[in-house]
Amino acid sequence: MASRSVVVVGGTKGLGREVAQFYADQGRDVVVTGRDAAGSEACAAEIGGATRGIGFDLADPHSIDEALASVGEVEYLVLAAIERDTNSVKDYDIAAAMRLATLKLVGYTEVIHTLLPRLADDAAILIFGGLARDRPYPGSTTVTTVNGGVTSLVRTLVIELAPRRVNALHPAIVGDSPQWKDMPPERFQALVQRTPTGRLVTMAEVVDASRFLLENGGVNGLNLAVDGGWLCS
Ligand SMILES: NC(=O)c1ccc[n+]([C@@H]2O[C@H](COP(=O)([O-])OP(=O)(O)OC[C@H]3O[C@@H](n4cnc5c(N)ncnc54)[C@H](OP(=O)(O)O)[C@@H]3O)[C@@H](O)[C@H]2O)c1
Repeated sequence: MASRSVVVVGGTKGLGREVAQFYADQGRDVVVTGRDAAGSEACAAEIGGATRGIGFDLADPHSIDEALASVGEVEYLVLAAIERDTNSVKDYDIAAAMRLATLKLVGYTEVIHTLLPRLADDAAILIFGGLARDRPYPGSTTVTTVNGGVTSLVRTLVIELAPRRVNALHPAIVGDSPQWKDMPPERFQALVQRTPTGRLVTMAEVVDASRFLLENGGVNGLNLAVDGGWLCS
């Protein structure tokens, strides 16, 4: 069982990559995935250790089964991929909405479906959502909707996949993540002012929370906000 892998879908960048790096540094067999094979393999080489890279497009769910054929037994499955979509109802971009909804709801589910025979009873799944779920903003219609979907997905997966554990992590804006580290200073300050801890959460804190959700055998069906108290403000 020691060779069971940690698979991070969307592990080539950002938060997923940080989680992958943590487990690679622990000497685990890690698989990172992104949209293309060459980029994922290059990322795996940078992460080091026994890390492998695989490429597939979550918005093309029919391609996922074949892409994951080389993956063996999995202990931890992390679903972190995202294509951001600024999309309002007034100026609705159907193609962009369909990509994101397919990627996060159908694509994530198809990864789980594909790997299910390779997930033992004590395996754990972690799905990334986000707090646009609770705090919409103009243009967040699809993001807010799919992150709400993640909340419900966790609950049905806990029942369907039992006794395997399934949890979700919903970060607020992660200040040092590649997506946000160069945000305009006025936006940064506005977010800090609304965060009771007086600062934005960090990638290290997201990795720590990911480990808790994956490794604590008593935690199941949780949708955990990691937000410095932002939802209280
Ligand atoms: N960063 C934050 O502050 C924040 C806040 C709230 C929630 N979140 C959530 O946390 C998760 C990670 O966010 P992040 O900011 O770390 O993301 P990121 O840096 O933008 O990385 C996105 C990852 O998803 C992969 N990906 C994108 N489109 C894909 C597709 N169609 N098929 C397969 N893989 C695809 C990318 O791979 P390639 O680029 O190599 O193709 C990359 O590995 C997301 O679910 C996001 O909603 C993040």
